[in-house]
Amino acid sequence: MLILALGRTQFGNPANTGNVLSEAETLALLQDWVPNERLRLHMRQVGAVMKAWALEREKLTEAEAHKWWMAGVLHDADWEKYPDAHCRIIIEELEKRQIDPLVIRTIACHGPRHFGVEPETTMEKMIYVFDELSGFIHAAALVRPTRYEGMDVKSVMKKLKTPSFAAQVDRTDIEDAISRISIPLEEIISFVIQHQLSVN
Ligand SMILES: [Fe+2]
Repeated sequence: MLILALGRTQFGNPANTGNVLSEAETLALLQDWVPNERLRLHMRQVGAVMKAWALEREKLTEAEAHKWWMAGVLHDADWEKYPDAHCRIIIEELEKRQIDPLVIRTIACHGPRHFGVEPETTMEKMIYVFDELSGFIHAAALVRPTRYEGMDVKSVMKKLKTPSFAAQVDRTDIEDAISRISIPLEEIISFVIQHQLSVN
């Protein structure tokens, strides 16, 4: 595994608080930077569950929830083109565009083992929680004829305990992420099933 430690734990400038990209600008960046359609879907799925969590569970305003969405949608923006500098390039781009530090630090927190940045706020913890789990649940949906419809938590739990299923999804990251919040894994899985952005 590549070590991509960012070498710092502070991101962005507090003077830029409140500065965000619009939905259209965020999706344009996604389209420009990420040629792989499946990766784009993964990023939009993480954005969708982040926003749903911000609104429903944290009771945040649309403007605050938009920051959660933006962090989710852009968290892997540089992964495909710059795998050796993953996370650093998108962080520098968003700093250059003078984006709210909340969004930038949240992106930096999506893989503490790789980037060396420990999630502190709920927003930062939840991107770490949702990243691998959303991808895993999507893999589970793809092997079901009805996709997300009728999917239950138990079957996802069973697949998580089957190492050969979606073997690329790191179970230790999922366990580590869940250990940092006070919400059971089952509840998070149920939330993702309900809110995951589904295509076809
Ligand atoms: Fe991701």
